[in-house]
Amino acid sequence: MQISPSLLASDFARLADEAATVAAAADWLHVDVMDNHFVPNLTIGLPVVEALLRHVSLPLDCHLMIEDPDRWAPAYAEAGAGNVTIHAEAAGSPVRTLRMIRAAGARAGLGINPATPVEPYTGLLPEIDMLLLMTVEPGFGGQPFLDMVLPKVRRARELIARYGGSVWLQVDGGVSEETISRCAEAGADVFVAGSAVFGADDPATAVKELRALAAAATAAGGCPR
Ligand code: DX5
Ligand code: ZN
Repeated sequence: MQISPSLLASDFARLADEAATVAAAADWLHVDVMDNHFVPNLTIGLPVVEALLRHVSLPLDCHLMIEDPDRWAPAYAEAGAGNVTIHAEAAGSPVRTLRMIRAAGARAGLGINPATPVEPYTGLLPEIDMLLLMTVEPGFGGQPFLDMVLPKVRRARELIARYGGSVWLQVDGGVSEETISRCAEAGADVFVAGSAVFGADDPATAVKELRALAAAATAAGGCPR
């Protein structure tokens, strides 16, 4: 049960200060890298990630919403990111790239958009440490949660259980106090939250409340883990 607040919803002019507000409450810091090609938005890239790494205590969970992750992803791992997630829709050589991420010492994640089925990627489970199911179309924070993804979260949890290895299941997009319980019941165990954390008056308290809701729903859920 882990919470990864997304800096996308924070004040980009004060990234290190914003990160510090959740340092004692969260497990990761989610960094949304967007290139204005894979998604219609442009955020931050490797130089800012390198700078953040010098100023934050939590491990960075880098979510690359970029074209050609094969070319760029290993550098984020080499820079010291704790996790690097590439998108299935963008990767030309996912096996090689995921192996390069791991070889550089980071956890390797595979991201899947709402309309992309998970079943074709079952064979990649041994190559990854985390599967990210997008619960909004990637590109922007603050969008409404897509309930249509929940059956896929359930199927992904079953596929991971059948595989038997340790793969975290992350949801990202529209995760809030209103939606996190449904995600946890369906089998997610890592929760990205942008507006629900940095839009709150007290981000650390928001993280704690999200964690408590997810834990309660997981205990009640009975999903195979
Ligand atoms: C969207 C990003 C998300 C975003 C989530 O493309 O991948 O990480 O920050 O923001 P909220 O939680 O506001 O939907
Ligand atoms: Zn993200």
